[in-house]
Amino acid sequence: MSEPILRVQDIRKSFDGSGVLRGVSLEIREGEVVVIVGPSGCGKSTLLRCINGLETIDSGEIRLHNEVISGRKKDLHLVRQKIGMVFQSYDLFPHMKVMDNLLLGPVRALGRPREEVEKEALQMLDRVGLREKADVYPRTLSGGQKQRVALVRAMLMNPELLLLDEITAALDPEMVSEVLNVVIDLARGGMTMAIVTHEMRFAEAVADRILFLEDGVILEESDPETFFHSPKTERAARFLQSFTYASRRDGAEKQSKNNPQG
Ligand SMILES: Nc1ncnc2c1ncn2[C@@H]1O[C@H](COP(=O)(O)OP(=O)(O)O)[C@@H](O)[C@H]1O
Ligand SMILES: [Mg+2]
Repeated sequence: MSEPILRVQDIRKSFDGSGVLRGVSLEIREGEVVVIVGPSGCGKSTLLRCINGLETIDSGEIRLHNEVISGRKKDLHLVRQKIGMVFQSYDLFPHMKVMDNLLLGPVRALGRPREEVEKEALQMLDRVGLREKADVYPRTLSGGQKQRVALVRAMLMNPELLLLDEITAALDPEMVSEVLNVVIDLARGGMTMAIVTHEMRFAEAVADRILFLEDGVILEESDPETFFHSPKTERAARFLQSFTYASRRDGAEKQSKNNPQG
């Protein structure tokens, strides 16, 4: 097996004295897709933000290709270039056309030739079904289209690791799958990713491994089959049940008529 790309070792992080990450360790290998799930407020975003240096950690260590990247200030931008991140809200620059948004990082930060990046950007826009949107402003795009552009922008930086934090959480339901399909396509292409999502069917489909985070610790680490069909902890089972309400409601109502304790 290949060496881990990312190695997170016993990291801790507090805000105002309360522990948000309370000793988290994980490894991600090349080409692996790790999905992190857990209840709201359990520390998922903080974990991703610590990994790409948007937050400092109180203790522990984060290594990228065996090189310590936590606790660095001087060359943090070099780390960020190797780790891409896409957030819930589309953070495209509104005053710049789609193509200019895409060129900004690779041309300005990496110093790559404009024409070369432009060609690559068009190919990638094509791949996500947005080739004709290169010359429009972000405000003319739907939320789903903006998130696909945000994914292209992250990929154009050629990251070794891509972090996705609930990238469909702000979207209307009909736009969710067009974005998640792009992520599945990236996974098939071998992109190494850590994904936070509440889309459980997507999680099951895309993940090589599931981490269940609860109150700042990893309670459960499983392959998706095990996690979704026979979770090891009672807490994870309860968490998963909260997602099945809609589809089970009919059955539950029928059952509660027969069984008042329901
Ligand atoms: N910058 C911050 N300052 C203070 N508290 C924060 C900050 N960021 C996150 N928190 C707190 O840390 C906890 C975990 O937050 P977060 O990582 O965003 O959880 P999740 O993404 O799992 O919903 C929450 O209680 C949140 O209020
Ligand atoms: Mg979050």
